[in-house]
Amino acid sequence: MARLLAEQRSSIYSDRPHSPIYQLFGTHHMTPVLEYGKEWKRQRKLLHLSLRNDVIDRYQELHLRSAHRLLENIQQDSKNFYSHIDLYTASAALEFTYGREVDGKNDPVITMATGLAEVMAKGLTVERVGLLTALPILKYVPSWFPGAAFQDEARKCRGMVASFSDFPFSMAKKQAETGGLQPSFISDMLGQGEVEVEESDAKETATGIYIAAGETTSSTLKVLVLAMLLNPAIQDKVHAELDVVVGKGVLPTFEDRERLPYLQAVLYEVMRWHPALPLGVPHATTASDIVEGYYIPKGTLVIFNTWAMSNQYNDPECFDPGRYLTPDGKLKPDAQQDNSQYFGFGRRVCPGRFFAGDSLWAAAAVLLSAFRFEKARDAFGKEIEIEPVFRHGMVSHPEPYRCSIISRTGAGEGN
Ligand code: HEM
Repeated sequence: MARLLAEQRSSIYSDRPHSPIYQLFGTHHMTPVLEYGKEWKRQRKLLHLSLRNDVIDRYQELHLRSAHRLLENIQQDSKNFYSHIDLYTASAALEFTYGREVDGKNDPVITMATGLAEVMAKGLTVERVGLLTALPILKYVPSWFPGAAFQDEARKCRGMVASFSDFPFSMAKKQAETGGLQPSFISDMLGQGEVEVEESDAKETATGIYIAAGETTSSTLKVLVLAMLLNPAIQDKVHAELDVVVGKGVLPTFEDRERLPYLQAVLYEVMRWHPALPLGVPHATTASDIVEGYYIPKGTLVIFNTWAMSNQYNDPECFDPGRYLTPDGKLKPDAQQDNSQYFGFGRRVCPGRFFAGDSLWAAAAVLLSAFRFEKARDAFGKEIEIEPVFRHGMVSHPEPYRCSIISRTGAGEGN
């Protein structure tokens, strides 16, 4: 049904809910919240230039280099593996966008981007979006009015969006003048690629990329580690495949990918087992429609319930990569198509899905070839049981859990 509405009736089901809160917080030019119209179409065209399937291989070096850095960071400080994963996805998104290698967690653009993401997560809650959509008049309530503290948060957020939109973009432009810009979204936009574009469109599109890319990818990787802790026999199989195909102690590259179907099936199952966006991103209708006898008015909020779709499998709570494999261990022909629902539907489908797939693969392949993830142990050597808890917002995250990360080449271990 989701595909039928979003794909076959895409001219009706491709809008987003209209809420004044986005303008109030200054995020209204970011692609994921843009209304279905000319500005959105221009942004999608630009994203397509740099993210479409036939150009995506040019970021493989970026993904592998970032995955090697993630590996080193975890080797040096395994306790904070959560923040290393956050840094991995944040730097990949920013490097893709602005063509500059990020200089660790203290890089000024990382600080700006993560600060903005935090303020947005705190300020743009689902409840507030709903409230301001229902009562748009609230946007005029002054900040001193009881319950209107969001006005101060909104002012702060507007300032942060403006700086985040300007600063990395000007840096990239300067870098382009000296010829040091890597292939990236901005290098394409600045005319080194295929088309001339309006600078304001390029800047605004760029600002939304980090917000869409960072948390979704990092949450998926945290679910991967959790799934490995809870399913040691499956982790054994991943290790066995890596050892046979790539060799123990050798880090995989994208050339090995085709020959690692089990690893790919694990990644598909991670996204099914706990989707990062359990309710996708809400769509809205731009015209009235009739679906199976029900009247759907113009402006209706439409939620494609990805979580419910992920439960339409046998024993859905069981983590079983075998769902995506044929009896002789190959990926089923429809495995990728089946997985595509976690990236949304129709004209709004995630434009970063190929980039995300490569980013997840690089981290998973490198980390699982180097480490074994196990439950942490208490002072008596007994495993500490994990009860997975998920933090809910638009993006669903596993709450931090304790984990023992053991080198597979005998170089050390951490908790
Ligand atoms: C595992 C990681 C990711 C997941 C699960 C994911 C999932 C999604 C979903 C479900 C949507 C909404 C689709 C819809 O409305 O039907 C979306 C939108 C979007 N994603 Fe992703 N995404 C991921 C990574 C990325 C990355 C890496 C990028 C960029 C490099 C990206 C850029 C975007 C953008 C710009 C939108 C807004 C599209 C629009 O509204 O037209 N995403 N994503």
